[in-house]
Amino acid sequence: MFIAENYSLLRHNTFGLEAKADLFVEYESEEELVAFLKNHEIGPDTNLLNIGEGSNLLFTSDFHGIVLHSAIKQMEYSFEENAATARVGAGVNWDTFCADAAGKGLWGVENLSAIPGETGAAAVQNIGAYGAEAGDVIISVDTIDSTTGEKKIFFNNECDYGYRHSVFKEPGMRKFIVTNVSFRLEQNPAPNLNYNGLRDLKEVPDITPELIRSRIIEIRKNKLPDPKETGSAGSFFKNPVIEKNMYKSLKDVYPAIPHYDVDTTHVKVPAAWLIEQCGLKGYRHNGAQVYENQPLVIVNCGNAIASDIMELARKIQKAVHDKFGIDIYPEVNYI
Ligand code: EPU
Repeated sequence: MFIAENYSLLRHNTFGLEAKADLFVEYESEEELVAFLKNHEIGPDTNLLNIGEGSNLLFTSDFHGIVLHSAIKQMEYSFEENAATARVGAGVNWDTFCADAAGKGLWGVENLSAIPGETGAAAVQNIGAYGAEAGDVIISVDTIDSTTGEKKIFFNNECDYGYRHSVFKEPGMRKFIVTNVSFRLEQNPAPNLNYNGLRDLKEVPDITPELIRSRIIEIRKNKLPDPKETGSAGSFFKNPVIEKNMYKSLKDVYPAIPHYDVDTTHVKVPAAWLIEQCGLKGYRHNGAQVYENQPLVIVNCGNAIASDIMELARKIQKAVHDKFGIDIYPEVNYI
């Protein structure tokens, strides 16, 4: 277990912002976490933040409380006929798991390759890309209740998975600290190739999860900044879901407006398109910038402070609201 006071979170947020935590604790097992919780009285009022790689966080100031980080890193597979269950530690880098599963020829997470972050956070955020979501393949999520130290397992139907949503994001639920996540993977081919940039792979005989994985990595490289080189938190905003009637009125004015059906009365509109139409692609505000190749992403030009990013985000929200009457909201969590 690693414990440090007044600890810099610079390496723990992919925006690359400086912020300090009063206390930083990294545990390597459920037992270590429970032992720490027992020795530090944690109540409902304790300011506790459980982080993964910090790939979806914006530290707006120093964090006056306890930051917990999982270093639970095991990956265990059990094989059944045609399927497999993977039990993965919350601290396993998400793409390490995707690579491992694809390497074993298992289907289910290949479309989610190369998403920054860790497995525990993936289950909380219900990460998604290219027609797939983590919640589609999660069987159950093991947690520790930080107020009691007791273990609680949430099965998929208790996780309330939706677009970038889970029960763990709801008020009062942050006390549950994810320790392990179990996934159901398939041994029989189950390619998910409905996303535009993947459809041509339908013609490929003997397709493998690794082949899809390499295509996904290629697509992401062209659109999204490399987290190792440029600070960002991936998509900064969620794609807004609007009423179909509103979409129809907008389509009269903007015939090219793209959309995806959500249900019979709602559609999702790509925020990237809305932001681009506002002329904000590449727009810079102090140290923060709207990413040129994917305007849903805000990048740190190297010297950004949190207020640069927040001000730029507000400017984008206002521009989209003023032009289209649509409110867009951050996917990134402000801390
Ligand atoms: N678009 C533009 N201009 C651009 C880029 C995109 O108008 O410069 C429009 C196009 O109409 C395009 C559409 O936006 O067809 C969708 O773009 P893209 O396929 O790149 O995906 P997205 O909807 O912008 C979502 C996720 C991404 C995920 C991709 C791929 C959200 C908030 N984001 O973005 O997730 O990788 O789909 O499935 O849902 C993340 O969460 O960090 C993330 C990167």
